[in-house]
Amino acid sequence: MTDTQEIKNRLDLVDVVQDYGVQLRKSGRNYAGFCPFHPNTKTPAFYVFPETQTWRCFGACAEGGDVFSFVMKKNGWDFKETLVDLARRAGVTLEETRPKDAAREATEERHAALLDAASNYYHQLLLHAPQASDARGYVAGRALADDTVAAFRLGFALDSWDAAKTHFTAQGYSEDELLAVGLLTEHEQRHTRYDRFRGRLMIPIRDLDGRVVGFGARTLDPDGVPKYLNSPQTELFDKGRLIFGLDMAKRYIREKHEVVLVEGYLDVMTAWQHGFRNVVAQMGTSLTEAQLRLLQKQSKRFVLALDPDAAGAKATLRSLQLARETLDRDLDVRFDARGLVQLEGRLKADIRVVTLPEGQDPDKLIRSDPAAWPRLLAEARPVVDYVIRVVAAALEPGDAKGKSAAAAQVLPLIDDIADPVERDHYLKRLSKTLGIDEAALRQAAARQKKDRRPPTRQHPPRGETPAGGPPAAASYPPEPEAPPDDLGAPARAVLSSGGGKIATRRLRHASRLEENFLRQALEHPGALSAVNYLLGRHKQPEVSAADFVRVEDRALLDVIVQRATLPTVATIDELCDSLDSVLAQRVKALFAKPSTPGIKLDRLPDSLALSVLDWRLEKIREHNTILKQLLPSGSPAESKDELTGSYLAQVQEMGRINRARDAMTATGRRRAEQGLSGRKPR
Ligand code: UTP
Ligand code: MN
Repeated sequence: MTDTQEIKNRLDLVDVVQDYGVQLRKSGRNYAGFCPFHPNTKTPAFYVFPETQTWRCFGACAEGGDVFSFVMKKNGWDFKETLVDLARRAGVTLEETRPKDAAREATEERHAALLDAASNYYHQLLLHAPQASDARGYVAGRALADDTVAAFRLGFALDSWDAAKTHFTAQGYSEDELLAVGLLTEHEQRHTRYDRFRGRLMIPIRDLDGRVVGFGARTLDPDGVPKYLNSPQTELFDKGRLIFGLDMAKRYIREKHEVVLVEGYLDVMTAWQHGFRNVVAQMGTSLTEAQLRLLQKQSKRFVLALDPDAAGAKATLRSLQLARETLDRDLDVRFDARGLVQLEGRLKADIRVVTLPEGQDPDKLIRSDPAAWPRLLAEARPVVDYVIRVVAAALEPGDAKGKSAAAAQVLPLIDDIADPVERDHYLKRLSKTLGIDEAALRQAAARQKKDRRPPTRQHPPRGETPAGGPPAAASYPPEPEAPPDDLGAPARAVLSSGGGKIATRRLRHASRLEENFLRQALEHPGALSAVNYLLGRHKQPEVSAADFVRVEDRALLDVIVQRATLPTVATIDELCDSLDSVLAQRVKALFAKPSTPGIKLDRLPDSLALSVLDWRLEKIREHNTILKQLLPSGSPAESKDELTGSYLAQVQEMGRINRARDAMTATGRRRAEQGLSGRKPR
């Protein structure tokens, strides 16, 4: 049994909810009370179902979940914090805190020792080896001082297929160990093993505690590809959870109450050398929530100093559209404005952005004029402000269509801001910058908001322009575009739907679909963005945390998103090794079940997108069976109370999903037929 299941078995959600001060009274087999998550004193719209150990608000928040999501939401905790708290309450010892078995611990220690030894080995070579004279020349050419080379323990890997291999096997390490920490690479077909890093400048990457966990290795050749070869994803080296330079920067970040994020390793080192020591880098990936949380422990004030190309171009409307159309998962997603605004709200952080002047990066800028660096940072602007500027700068004067598109792009960002005063401020600013009358802008905002938000919200607040965001930002899914608001045929279907047993069967079906989805998406890292693309085309929201019942599954969705952005894809076993034990347990459980009979790979996105719609439908149907029993008697359409509103909204939602489903099956069929007739007979 997984740890989370054990915890759930031992706790009663009814107790937990009441301990958080929610008064519940028995209502049939269930419990009802006033929802603790939205102001409501008229109708008790919050329900706890002891049989399934789930809760749901049938009123304005239209959210639900299990004991974990309740406690997470109530305290604003992340999953880990919640897990530790509930494990304590339930008296469950978590696998991670159980004494690890001796063997595993020994392995981990040996791996850490090996990486540490490797960083010393490369460092000594850089300092002394005759073969490293070019590398020393390179270091001097980039104006890195001896102190800096020593502080970051820079090194050099000999241009050899087996120098490191020979050196460390002679020291008693096995090839398997060298492979496990990423010092060796295995040839796919021939299975020969050779040095991964050859003829490169070696930059050790350390975790928060200063342990070497991997390397970034720069080519010395101006045309060398890749420019940086990094360690592969290993149990110790997880790009999405590492911040380059943080071990050295953390005390300065705390002192200055500010952390500066740059894009490159070299930028961090040059900044350090010039005394700017609260500077870290995000290792070429988009900024993840895990990384921000790590940083947040030192300071809640972030300045992103972005190279001009990445951010500037990303913030313009056209490139966002391109991003969506190409569905390129290696796409540069280092700047995701909406993701940042939402993170800012969730983490209660202050995130500012500044772009470097054309042709500059922090390394060049600081070397040529150190005093310019603090001046530049002082110009950092809040994310929304920054986007407004970039969007306005890209406008041709007198381009009315462009103006309206620009407004459509910024409005959802503004809508994401938690603080109403701030929202008002940015609306005014946008109006001024674009030269659009404020009243007109507010109208457009209201219209967009209405279009984007069906009365029942299955998903957290957010908005979306037709342009959309990059696919890798799937944890911030877009709202569908204006759906038609009529009551479709399914309304009648709902009114005649049955009782508890059917509901349970539906939920079980939905959960099987969810599990199959997760498994496939883990196995095929491109699948999620393809599914989201299809959903988007049919005006359906992307797959988001709210689609999953279990908190582990919500967290796994993030893992899947992360995984899709990695250039090298780890096997499922490797993935499990890199995950928290609770998540690893869940992944193993997903793969333990027999897989559904083979779908051809090219049909996978279509089939998964359909299954998403199916499980959404199943859930709404199930909610509605309960909801219907709670409705005041009389014609539902005439009553104006909160529950009735929710009910009608859900019925409309079902209509929209059903229509999308029909459209999807129709295009799917058409494509399959074209595929068949287009192919030449052999
Ligand atoms: P840049 O290409 O901006 O590199 O990539 P840089 O740090 O300025 O490098 P120099 O100054 O040319 O030496 C920014 C970061 O993206 C990651 C690295 O973390 C790099 O520091 N990156 C870049 C890779 O991981 N692989 C690559 O091939 C390129
Ligand atoms: Mn650079």
